[in-house]
Amino acid sequence: MEFKSKIKTIEWIRDKNVSRMVDQLVIPYEYKLVDIKTSDEMFDAIKTMIVRGAPAIGIAGAHGIALAALEIAKDTKKPQEFLQKLKERAQYLKSSRPTAVNLMWAVDKQYDYIKNSEKTVDEMVQMLIDHAVELENEDIEINKKIGDYGAALVTKKGATILTHCNAGALATVGYGTALGVVRSAFANDNTIQVFADETRPRQQGARITTFELAMDGIPVTLITDGMSGYFMNKGMIDMVVVGADRIAANGDTANKIGTYNLAIVANYHNIPFYIAAPLSTIDTSIETGIEIPIEERSHEEVTHINGKTVCAQGVNVINPGFDVTPASLIKGIITEKGVLYPPYSESIKKVFNLLEV
Ligand code: MRU
Repeated sequence: MEFKSKIKTIEWIRDKNVSRMVDQLVIPYEYKLVDIKTSDEMFDAIKTMIVRGAPAIGIAGAHGIALAALEIAKDTKKPQEFLQKLKERAQYLKSSRPTAVNLMWAVDKQYDYIKNSEKTVDEMVQMLIDHAVELENEDIEINKKIGDYGAALVTKKGATILTHCNAGALATVGYGTALGVVRSAFANDNTIQVFADETRPRQQGARITTFELAMDGIPVTLITDGMSGYFMNKGMIDMVVVGADRIAANGDTANKIGTYNLAIVANYHNIPFYIAAPLSTIDTSIETGIEIPIEERSHEEVTHINGKTVCAQGVNVINPGFDVTPASLIKGIITEKGVLYPPYSESIKKVFNLLEV
């Protein structure tokens, strides 16, 4: 069943040729929209996390290519030169964040869409804008399908679903992946509730997940990251659903740092641990999670909270933004084509039609 969510995270504005997005840096204090007008601004918006969450930064990348195309078309009307310059801009945009493969997927999809089109530069620009809008609309449809497949797994009335980070409407164009499952489950049973991990260091769970669920009227309880085992042990959690930034061909899954710990605790307590993600998050070019590049982020995210230091001066810090949960801890991967089950090396091949015959 469909749940009406009020949030649209990112949208191409045709009459202005800008990418309009929710500024996630000021949530929950403000709900503010910003217009991104150039490909340089888009690079910064992704890097500084004005826009964040794998599917959302994928669409940001697609919009970034449309902006780059508009810029390049002012300098040249020669198709080959245009394509060469666009390719360079594509590389640049892809370097804004390393882990979420949706960014590379969307940017490459944009470039591939026009590279052999043999159209004029202005026609290619228009094609890229139209294609970006298509990908944007598709994202919401995909999330609704993920939501419905996931909701079918929520069989207990009044179930409590635990999630980590933000894999909601604000991490996608709208509706969400893990929170898409929650939204669809809530449409079927409005007694379900969510427990949200705070998600240190950037607190996407506290700042963003609780904000968007409250906005949509879905009951949510905020806990700190270390509390999940306590509540699982008390029998208060029925299932865990999280998003993903990149899934390897064997099902190993990178998601926000702390996801791996959560998967271990859930498995220890026999609580089903699910990943909800579109197929664009699956990177079949890599065999296992070891190959997934993990973003190392600013140490200040760990040493400071709200601009105030929380530790001894000069302390040693490491701050990986993501970790990899081994496939063996994942009960299922909820996609827009249905739920994939182990062995993932087979179910993933099957869903991409990669099986040898
Ligand atoms: O660093 P972020 O906030 O971009 O990390 C986001 C996550 O890890 C999400 O869980 C993931 O991208 C899935 S979003 C549907």
